[in-house]
Amino acid sequence: MRLPRYRLEEWNGLLMVCADPGVPPLAPQLAEPADRLAPYGLADLVVAYTDRWDGVPANWKVGFENGSENYHHMGTHASTLDILVPGKDTVVDESAGRWFSMYTPFALDGADPAAGGDAADVPRVGTLIPGLGERELSGMTVAGFFPNLVMALLPDSVTFVRWVPTGPVTHDALVTVLVPPQAERDPGFGAYVEASRRQFEVIQNEDLVAVRGVQRGLATDPAPSGGRFSHLERPLWQFQRYLADRLSATAPAPEQL
Ligand SMILES: [Fe+2]
Repeated sequence: MRLPRYRLEEWNGLLMVCADPGVPPLAPQLAEPADRLAPYGLADLVVAYTDRWDGVPANWKVGFENGSENYHHMGTHASTLDILVPGKDTVVDESAGRWFSMYTPFALDGADPAAGGDAADVPRVGTLIPGLGERELSGMTVAGFFPNLVMALLPDSVTFVRWVPTGPVTHDALVTVLVPPQAERDPGFGAYVEASRRQFEVIQNEDLVAVRGVQRGLATDPAPSGGRFSHLERPLWQFQRYLADRLSATAPAPEQL
């Protein structure tokens, strides 16, 4: 008996698995986002923790889309994320291909617990990633890679979220937080990790309400008609284009049907 062999490619310290030996290499497709993310030194970061939410009752694409736009911050995360990184301030970058990126400057009053609001909602800032510029220190970048990986890049951490299909209407959501290696030597590291986990749980629970609602809506008959996207939802449009391309590339030609 022989175990199957899969193609592996390393990208910024991440091991990417591909089940199709025939597709082109990944790195050339991601050259532009690699440049944009270079200041964070992804390959040098270490895993602080991974949490997972198994059996989320929605198709994986519903989860991915939720994590691919900040438009929903103003509703779903009105009292948590939106205070720190207001969705309305997000600028979505022009991009083409199998990725997107966007940047949200920190809200000046939201970033300072002394300025009011619920301090428990403001993430503790841990050890900063070395070498970041003013732009990286002043906001959050979100970068997504089709089909199912999104990362949120902050001055002290990079968080990866993967949505793994487990059935037509279920998926597992995996969250991994990376920090600079120096962070683990900080005496406050344990408390930082605990605060980060708690905050993620709050945010994930907020997202689960939205994700479950969208899935319920998709099951209605007639199905939702869609409608126009907000400019903040450009990544969803790109994702749909990506899916359409992939589906049409793998669909049998009409004469084969
Ligand atoms: Fe969300």
